[in-house]
Amino acid sequence: ADPLRTLAAAKGKFIGTAVATSPLANETAYRTIAAQEFNQVTAENAMKWDATEPSDNQYNFTGADQVVAFAQANNQIVHGHTLVWHSQTPSWVQSLSATAMKAAMLDHIATVVGHFANNSAVQSWDVVNEVFDESGGYRTSFWYNTLGSSFIADAFRAARAADPDAKLCINDYNVEGINAKSTAMYNLVSTLKSQGVPIDCVGFQSHLATQYGFPGQVTENVARFAALGVQVRFTELDVRIVLPADASEITTQNQYYTNIINACLASTACPGVTIWGFTDKYSWVPDTFPSEGQALIYDAGYNAKADYTAIATALGGT
Ligand code: G3I
Repeated sequence: ADPLRTLAAAKGKFIGTAVATSPLANETAYRTIAAQEFNQVTAENAMKWDATEPSDNQYNFTGADQVVAFAQANNQIVHGHTLVWHSQTPSWVQSLSATAMKAAMLDHIATVVGHFANNSAVQSWDVVNEVFDESGGYRTSFWYNTLGSSFIADAFRAARAADPDAKLCINDYNVEGINAKSTAMYNLVSTLKSQGVPIDCVGFQSHLATQYGFPGQVTENVARFAALGVQVRFTELDVRIVLPADASEITTQNQYYTNIINACLASTACPGVTIWGFTDKYSWVPDTFPSEGQALIYDAGYNAKADYTAIATALGGT
């Protein structure tokens, strides 16, 4: 059977995975599947602020470079994740004054994006991540509390200056369907576009759960963002289940994977789908939701699950 990346490429799409540096360095099965099945990768943690600039102006690209080298060796494109986020950002940043925080942000973006600007594999960035709360207000993060919402436009302008060719994205969760949060994101993207702020894409993280149902009006939501002239990417797809999983939940999970692939296939504005890892051996889900899991498309022993087949079938595989 054709690997997922071959099927996706035939549809003009990428199919990607998040990768973690430790198994990438240490496990042959992990490397083999990541290379064979995917034509796009995102660093699960290695490009975040705590990894790339743990102390002020002390940059470390060890893990990030490892991920990019793997991608280049396997003819994969790389999505940079993430420049400005409230999580996994060192405490030295969080306690700065407004003037110093803005300067640190601009320096961080210039340096991290600049590090990869001449690397043809690195083609896009999550510039700001998770800036909204569930009701559609701005998240009251240290970024917002210190700088107000202006940090968002400033971050996009700095990223464009550092790499004029990279696609620049805003990324969030619970924005896959039409709701208060996705409408806030829509209104922000519309405003940024009207102000000439360089924004090229929105990321729908797509951390789904069978217990909560499939988001409503995903196709319509993709279409309204596409009408603003931005790409829509599904950036962190997984579908967690309350354990133990029963057969009907597995069927629901298969369907959710199919639905997201179909939503991307249905829009020329969607360049591809990234799954947030591929093996249940390495997933953020049990660490955050201890009673949930089995969210990915290979089991912990690297056997392809029915979700893999669902994706392959949606991509036209036989
Ligand atoms: O590297 C340290 C290690 O030194 C330490 O001993 C260990 C002890 O806990 O922690 C290790 O860091 C962990 C890190 O992953 C690397 O494994 C952190 O504790 C852990 O919190 C961190 O979790 C990551 C999480 O983001 C943190 O916010 C997950 O791997 C990662 O999958 C998850 O990804 C996020 C996206 O970036 C944004 N959207 C949501 C998504 C899921 O939460």
